[in-house]
Amino acid sequence: MHVKNTIQPPKDILIHPRNVNFNFTDDTPYEWHKNPNVAFLLNAVSIFLPNGEKFFMDSVRHYKNTITDPVLKGQLLGFLAQEALHKREHERANLEMVKKNKSMTIIEKSAYLFLKVSSILPARTQLAITCALEHFFALFANALLTDIEGFIENTHPAFGQLWLWHAVEETEHKAVCYDVYQAVAGGKLGYVERCIVMLCTTFVFSILLIFGIFFSIVFQKKPKNSLQKTKMDNTKQVKKKWAGLFTNLFLKIIKPYSAYFVPGFHPWQYDNSHYIREWKLSHGSKY
Ligand SMILES: [Fe+2]
Ligand SMILES: [Fe+2]
Repeated sequence: MHVKNTIQPPKDILIHPRNVNFNFTDDTPYEWHKNPNVAFLLNAVSIFLPNGEKFFMDSVRHYKNTITDPVLKGQLLGFLAQEALHKREHERANLEMVKKNKSMTIIEKSAYLFLKVSSILPARTQLAITCALEHFFALFANALLTDIEGFIENTHPAFGQLWLWHAVEETEHKAVCYDVYQAVAGGKLGYVERCIVMLCTTFVFSILLIFGIFFSIVFQKKPKNSLQKTKMDNTKQVKKKWAGLFTNLFLKIIKPYSAYFVPGFHPWQYDNSHYIREWKLSHGSKY
């Protein structure tokens, strides 16, 4: 079986790196979303990202000269440029986050260790790990983009804009690593490998995420305001909010997550490019 499926995104969807700086300051809140659980979850993702983005870039850059197709090569270069900017902005965001919760560096170091160990694997397996994580992030991005207005309304502007910008660009380049992988590792072995790697990566990434959320909540500097403390200590409400958030997220991602295991899968089988257009419209011509 040789599955080489390279569906292209709509013609107006380009992999366009946007060199933007978000305004993170000492005053940027740690709980930057009205539902603090959303902030805790995304803080746990953010602390993983600088090391993650570096790993993604390295694993794809390895094949830069192997790819001869000019379209895919152009997309690969666009991917590298976008990920470098994501890495830079999440490093800046994380600096502020760590000031308010030093324990997040433990999660950062754990992610570094996981990716360092992964970097001794064959280049093809590393690319399969990148494909798996890129699929994850494309699903997170899609979940976030389903309500752009609602997300903006409920967030501190710096973090809200950071995550929407990142979600849009993840959507633009969601198929690049997968297409590179298909070009260098298509066939039955490639299919089996990417499925096994997806299962292992899901396991490790979920553990990192769970610990990240735990550290994000438990070791943050507690607010001095007693009213907020009372709110936080209402465990029944907190549990209910977490259950709601996870159920919502699970329902949004389970079907497209499972699609990854189908032999003819391609990320652009699901065309969600309308979210990119919607975001561009709401941000004016500079995007
Ligand atoms: Fe990214
Ligand atoms: Fe990405």
